[in-house]
Formats: sequence, C-alpha cells, structure tokens
Amino acid sequence: MSNTGAAPAEIADRLRRSAPSGSDLAWRAPGRANLIGEHTDYNDGFVLPVALRLALYIAGRRSPGSPGSLRLTSLDESGGAIVDLGTGEGPDKGWGRYATAVVRSLLDDGVELTGFTGVLVSEVPRGAGLSSSAALEVAIASAIVAEPLDPVRMAKICRRAENVYVGIQSGIMDQLASAAGRSGCALLIDCRDITVEAVEVPDRLRVVVIDSAVQRGLAESGYNERRKQCEAAASIMGVASLRDADGELLESHRERMDDVIYRRARHVIGENGRVMDTVAALRTADFERLGRLFDDSHRSYARDFEASTPEIDSLVEVAQDTDGVVAARLTGGGFGGCTVNLVVEGRSEEAAAEILSGYQALTGLQGRVWVSEPADGAIPLEFLTEGGFAPKAGG
Ligand code: GLA
Repeated sequence: MSNTGAAPAEIADRLRRSAPSGSDLAWRAPGRANLIGEHTDYNDGFVLPVALRLALYIAGRRSPGSPGSLRLTSLDESGGAIVDLGTGEGPDKGWGRYATAVVRSLLDDGVELTGFTGVLVSEVPRGAGLSSSAALEVAIASAIVAEPLDPVRMAKICRRAENVYVGIQSGIMDQLASAAGRSGCALLIDCRDITVEAVEVPDRLRVVVIDSAVQRGLAESGYNERRKQCEAAASIMGVASLRDADGELLESHRERMDDVIYRRARHVIGENGRVMDTVAALRTADFERLGRLFDDSHRSYARDFEASTPEIDSLVEVAQDTDGVVAARLTGGGFGGCTVNLVVEGRSEEAAAEILSGYQALTGLQGRVWVSEPADGAIPLEFLTEGGFAPKAGG
C-alpha cells in the first residue's frame, strides 16, 4: 500500500462527482491504531499510536457571508449537517452532532472561522475502534478554520468537542494521532504535558489492523467505568493521576483497595512502562522484545483491565502463531474492535489471510484486514486537473 497521502482513486472519484460546483479545497484526516499504551492517556501517561492510511476526506469550497455556516453532506450516511458559525447551532444527533461539537469548541477557543460547503466520505470503519470520530472532528475543524492550527491545539479543541459537546470522556490520543501523525513513524505522546515525539517504525515492519467483527457494544459504559476506577485508585494512593504512581506505591496500598481497582491500576502503571520499552525496542529493531511487550500488554488489558473478549483473545493467539507476525494485541478503547499486528514486510498479506482463516475456524467470525504503513496526520489536498487529489505542496 502506498503512503503518499493521495486519496485512493475510488474515493477521489466520488468526491469529485459530489462536491459542490466551484470546490477547490480538500483535506484528509486519518484514523489511527495504537501500538501500545491503552487507557493511559486520560491517566496523564504515555501512548504510542500510528496514523493509518485509512482516512476521512472532505472536499468543498469556502462560502462567503459573515459569520457564515458550515454545510456538509456525507456520502456514507444519510442527512446533511448545517451549523451556524456564529451561534454554534446545529444538529444534536447522528454524525452531524460532531460538526456542531467541533464548531462550538472552536468558538470557545476564539478561533476565527470561515463558511464552508462540502461533502465528506470516509474509509475509516465506524465502531471498529480506529477513531473514525476523531478523523471526522479533525477534518471538519481543518475545513472551517480561517488559518491552519498547529496539531496540538487542533487536537485539544477536537478532544474538548468530544468531551464537552458529544459527552464522551476520551483522552487526547485519537485526535492527536489524526492531527499530528507522521509517515513511517509512531507518535510517542506524553499525555501530561501533551508533547509528541516521532519514533521511526523499522522499514521492515507493516502495521496490519484486523477487525474482529466483535461489536463494541459496551464500549461507552465500559470505558467510562474504567476511567472512574482509575481515578479511584489514584485517589486512594493520594496522587493526582496514575502517572504519578509506581508498582511500589501500588503494592503499599493494596490492602486498602478492592481487587478490581487494584488490577485496573496495575494495568495502567505497567502499561506506561511498556510504552517506553516499546520505543526502545522499535529504535533497536528488537523484534523479539516487541513481541513480548505486545503480549504482556494484551494479557494485562484482558486480565487486569478486562477490556478484551474471548474472540479477540483468539484473534491475538492465532496471530502470535502465524509466521511473519512480530507482535499482536487488541488496540483502542476495548470491548471489541481491532487488533494491531506488526508483521514483517513481504509476509503481511499472506499472514493476514492466514490469521483471518484461523480466526474464522475458531470463532465463526469473518474479520477484515487493512495493511498499512504509518501515515501522515491531517493534510490539505490539492485538486488535480487530471482528476484525483494529491497532498498540497508545503501544506
Ligand atoms: C479510546 C479513547 C482514547 C483512549 C483509548 C484507550 O480510543 O478515545 O482516548 O483512551 O480509547 O487507550
């Protein structure tokens, strides 16, 4: 799979045919897979996501008039969204509520906005844990800001849109991965001071994302409950967040915690350490160590954090036994969704096919797979005269 950031031909074609006349602007905002560091972001810890080739695209034109409005049509789903850029009035249901939320959050930050009329189309599957909503938020914000925002500010605004106006208490990872992704690299994010360091993924590795086809049914309630449990653990230990705790502090408070709270904290504390170890293993291309770290992370996520499912455990086990797979684990918020696998180049397509058939034999479920290299974050695209879109020079 190429990694130029250009829109795939079929997507480009649909956008061209449906974009309003006079359209001359387009953006691409990617989904993400987290290599390691799960439920650590809202605990002020470390995460290591990659932006994917799978992305959401918006094309359209600026519309005159002050304060103007955002008018969007989705090519994937029914209905359109119209949001008033002066008052932030807009839809409060369906995908349109993300447009409303982004506009309100941008207004809260005093960002100058510009009217926009356009269409959007997404390759990021919804509900699979690949941050389709973060891609939507970042793409919308890119289309309506009068001047480009730096990726950290953009991510903070989009995260607040989700926390305050959509009502999901997520951390910063997804929006920052979509806004700041770097081709060929994972992003080491320190979620306390929101700094980002690009860590090269060895050339020989492909990121293979496999959708388990397990619906993320309990995702929202399970996510919010985990978050509360982590906060409870931090408060019992008398620290501001689990970032400030280590194994010793945890053990010294074990008697005062119920077992569930203790295990949630053990996952997060251990996971922060595994993120840093994974960075070291990527830098030295130590594939054996990468495999062990993903394995430990998955086990901790499944047993201590209880965010996996029996089917996903099978999907990880099948992958671990497949030739060419270096590392495999459940990625994202949990309770369903996708696994992330690091696979040696030249084996990725075959390994993926073998994993899918092994998984189906064990569970009866038909998974889906995407092979990618770490891609760039949100970028403006240029309309090419011969059709299609390409990354804008200097954009
Ligand atoms: C979801 C949230 C992120 C993060 C992950 C778990 O994707 O949106 O902020 O907490 O779950 O690591």
